[in-house]
Amino acid sequence: MFITLEGPEGSGKTSHIPYLVEYLREKGYVVFPTREPGGTTISEQVRDILHDLKNAEMQPRTETLLYQAARAQIVEQVIKPRLDAGEVVISDRYYDSTIAYQGYGHQQDLEQVRALVKYATGGLTPDLTILLDLEIEVGLKRKTQNEMEWNRMDAYTVEFHKRVRNGYLEMVKQEPKRWVVVNSNQKWDNVQADLKKIIIAGLTK
Ligand code: TMP
Repeated sequence: MFITLEGPEGSGKTSHIPYLVEYLREKGYVVFPTREPGGTTISEQVRDILHDLKNAEMQPRTETLLYQAARAQIVEQVIKPRLDAGEVVISDRYYDSTIAYQGYGHQQDLEQVRALVKYATGGLTPDLTILLDLEIEVGLKRKTQNEMEWNRMDAYTVEFHKRVRNGYLEMVKQEPKRWVVVNSNQKWDNVQADLKKIIIAGLTK
C-alpha cells in the first residue's frame, strides 16, 4: 500500500510520520517512510537546489521540472521496488504537492503539470492520501515560532500559499475516494489519533 501525506506549510506531516511508522511496525507491518523532494542521494541533491534561498531567481517551470527529476529517481529507485516487495510506503509529500504548489500556487496550466507528473511517476498513484489541513497563517506562524527550516518555498507570498491550500481542497473534491482530510489545527495527540485510525482503516479495507 502506498500512503502519502500532504498539506500546506507547517501542517505537521513530518512530525507525525515517525510515530505512525513505529505504530504500524508494532502491528507487524513492514513500513518504509520516505519524503519528497528527497529520499535518494540524487533527489536530496535536487532538494538542496530547490530549497536554497540563494536561488530566488528560479522560474516556476524550472522549479516544476526539478521536482519531477527528484521524483522520477525516488519512484524508480525506492518506491516501486518497496511496493513490489509488499511493503507499506509512507511518503511525506508526493505528486499532489506539484499540482498544489506548481499548478495552483504558480497558476501554471494544470493539464501540462499533470502530464509532467505522469511522466515522472510512470503513472504510480497513491492508494490513500491524507491532507493535513490548516489555515495558512497558522502554519507559517508555527514554522517561524518553532524555528523550523525556512526555505525558498516558504518565502513565497501568503497569497501563493493560500492558492496552494485551496488547490488541495479542490483536489479532495475531485478525487474523494483517495483523499481523507484531517484538521491539523487541533492538539497534536488528536491529529496523531486521527491519522492512525485512517491508516488502519485503509490497510484493513
Ligand atoms: P517540506 O519537506 O518542509 O514540506 O518542504 C518541501 C517543500 O517543497 C514545501 O514547500 C512544498 C514544496 N514542494 C513543491 O512545491 N512541489 C513538490 O512537488 C514537492 C514534493 C514539494
